[in-house]
Amino acid sequence: MTTVDLSTNIAGVALKSYLMNASGPKCTTWEELEVVAQSASSAIMTKSCTMEYREGNPEPRYSDLPLGSIQSMGLPNLGYKAYLEMVPRLKALGKPVIVSISGFSIKENIEMVSAFQKSDVDLIEVNFSCPNIPGKAQVAYDFEQVESALAALTVLGDKPIGIKLAPYFDMSHFIAMATILNKFPVKFITCVNSIGNTLIIDPETESPIIKPKGGFGGLCGDYIKPVGLANVRAFRELLDDDVQIIGVGGIKNGVDAFEYLLAGADAVQIATCFEKEGEGCFKRIEDELTAFMVKKGYTQLSDAKNKLKPL
Ligand SMILES: Cc1cc2nc3c(=O)[nH]c(=O)nc-3n(C[C@H](O)[C@H](O)[C@H](O)COP(=O)(O)O)c2cc1C
Repeated sequence: MTTVDLSTNIAGVALKSYLMNASGPKCTTWEELEVVAQSASSAIMTKSCTMEYREGNPEPRYSDLPLGSIQSMGLPNLGYKAYLEMVPRLKALGKPVIVSISGFSIKENIEMVSAFQKSDVDLIEVNFSCPNIPGKAQVAYDFEQVESALAALTVLGDKPIGIKLAPYFDMSHFIAMATILNKFPVKFITCVNSIGNTLIIDPETESPIIKPKGGFGGLCGDYIKPVGLANVRAFRELLDDDVQIIGVGGIKNGVDAFEYLLAGADAVQIATCFEKEGEGCFKRIEDELTAFMVKKGYTQLSDAKNKLKPL
């Protein structure tokens, strides 16, 4: 049988396959992370952590939608020290460990990045794009703050740092952000986070379908795939070659994952589909991607990576 080599690497960290879980669904507790480790996800990615334990926003705060999901979780997590303590046990599960951190200020991010720099985690993803904290703007939309934060966060140690970006919708914003990223030793970007502050209304109850922030929440899943693809594509064209890109947004089958490969992704993450289907999604999507690439006659990711054909 023909096989396809789906192995990749991010910042020199070898990944057995192109697919991993995204920060968010089912990766908050030890038990959940153990399930991720046992699945076909090529890394163990944690829920974004904050300085202290957080309950998150009031329920209902997540809802399945026909083509994805809307959520306003508000970063429920165990607090960064719990994940720091878990690192040795997570590493013992045999896969690269990526921690996501989401401080509410540069100072908090410095403290958390410094702590994980001294740990055995493989990669650090700093979330600049949570849209669901009442009263807090998304750092990713404040270019001056991104620049100051990167100046402070990229000098704290040798462990590779990546940034989770919000989706952008204007060429001037892609250019502004890429210009900043190219100034610092950021090793990877992950794009996109959910499209923030969308509203889904239930016409029967005449109410929003989630409670926090008057119903405003992050839109995820199929709805946002074209946005995710465009962000990966734009950044691939604008960023220096040594900045890698993890694509995320609306991946639920092998062909979606392949489209991100054409756009230029070095790896991809899966959130809503994992939430809806459970950990079996990683193996299913891996098999589908393999089958699609076999059909195309491709044997490795580089055969299609960043090879979107102009019309
Ligand atoms: C329930 C849920 C919780 C999420 N929590 C986080 C988070 O803590 N940190 C983060 O960077 N992204 C978070 N996200 C965003 C996802 O990582 C991802 O960027 C987004 O959902 C798009 O991917 P998808 O279309 O596969 O869902 C969350 C998404 C969902 C559905």
